[in-house]
Amino acid sequence: MDYQILVNKDNILNKDYVPEDLVEIYEPAGKKMDPNYINKLDKFVYQEFKEMQKDALLCNYEIFVDSSYRSFDYQQKVFDEIEAKKGLEYALRYCALPGSSEHQTGLAFDVIVRRDGVLIEETNENDPELIWLRDNSYKYGFILRYPKGKEEITGYNFEPWHFRYVGRDTALKMHDSGITTLEEYTITKKDVKKIKI
Ligand code: DAL
Ligand code: ZN
Repeated sequence: MDYQILVNKDNILNKDYVPEDLVEIYEPAGKKMDPNYINKLDKFVYQEFKEMQKDALLCNYEIFVDSSYRSFDYQQKVFDEIEAKKGLEYALRYCALPGSSEHQTGLAFDVIVRRDGVLIEETNENDPELIWLRDNSYKYGFILRYPKGKEEITGYNFEPWHFRYVGRDTALKMHDSGITTLEEYTITKKDVKKIKI
């Protein structure tokens, strides 16, 4: 699996692309979730998530995977629902069209938090759990994929709940160099390769 794969509005996955190593995962789901939807993530990525989840719990933060792998067709359904509720302009800023969602890679997930036994449906950027994730997720190979202030680069609004696995080395490099988007990291990698040649 290419953990650095770039999927965005310009880098589209095939309709039939299904990651090889998906595992079904069972975590408390938010009420908004389709009851027939089964969460799946890349097997190794889920192991990394479990490590992160365990360490978050040591700080009394309960984090769970709320929405993870989505097939091309399922992404269409998600997009259609958001468009129906909030309109096309909003949908395009918060939800990828099928093929351009990294949820189709099995490497990305939206997080949900539980506090005092209650699942918090609407996460907020100031939630301590999300702040902890922003500060610590790189140690487990994750990045916050749609950061604040980078909307022009990622093509999406700030999503404090959406995390993406890129591998521990890459996440550490990004963290240490202050590169916050996979788009910018991918360009840097290409430049490095060019210089080496
Ligand atoms: N919310 C992100 C952009 C997605 O739908 O993939
Ligand atoms: Zn997401």
